Amino acid sequence: MQSSQTVAIHDLTFVPLLSEQQIQTRVGELGAALLARYEGQTPLFISILSGAFVFASDLIRAYDDDCEVGFVKLASYQGTQSSGSIQTVMGLEKQLTGRHVVVVEDIVDTGRTLHFFLDLLRQQNPASICTVAFLRKPEAVEYPVAVDLVGFDIENQFVVGYGLDYEGLGRNLPGLYQLME
Ligand code: IMP
Repeated sequence: MQSSQTVAIHDLTFVPLLSEQQIQTRVGELGAALLARYEGQTPLFISILSGAFVFASDLIRAYDDDCEVGFVKLASYQGTQSSGSIQTVMGLEKQLTGRHVVVVEDIVDTGRTLHFFLDLLRQQNPASICTVAFLRKPEAVEYPVAVDLVGFDIENQFVVGYGLDYEGLGRNLPGLYQLME
């Protein structure tokens, strides 16, 4: 799948955008920012599957203090793009009332996923909500979502790696790659 620079996945070719080292450095900074924010508390990290699982696993290890971890899997109906609805496929089992919740998302593209999930979360009365996204595409955002911490703002390009896939492949790449123009 991989040559020295480009990555071929299915019918497409991707070029490097962020190295593993750049990503790890930034994740360390995000972990430090969260540590300062939650000193003496035990936040609950909620990772949105599937794309955020790699970022979440690094982020919680950069958070060098007590924390809990949960997962939620959301899916949108096909073919409806940004106007479509999203359903929870696999829900949270943890009680969220009074908890400090850190929502971990892979990428804010239109913002629809995060917008929907934050609505759901607020209904459970957490003490606070902090949203952390590994990536954000500012030009693509259509839904009003407050993202408290962003790893990297990127152009409106399709990317793979570090948990993000193209038709099922590419999640295990340690760096980030963008579609070759
Ligand atoms: P949303 O449009 O912000 O709701 O993003 C929905 C989901 O689409 C994200 O959580 C990602 O899993 C996926 N996604 C958006 N942009 C990309 C991309 O460039 N590469 C791979 N997956 C993406």
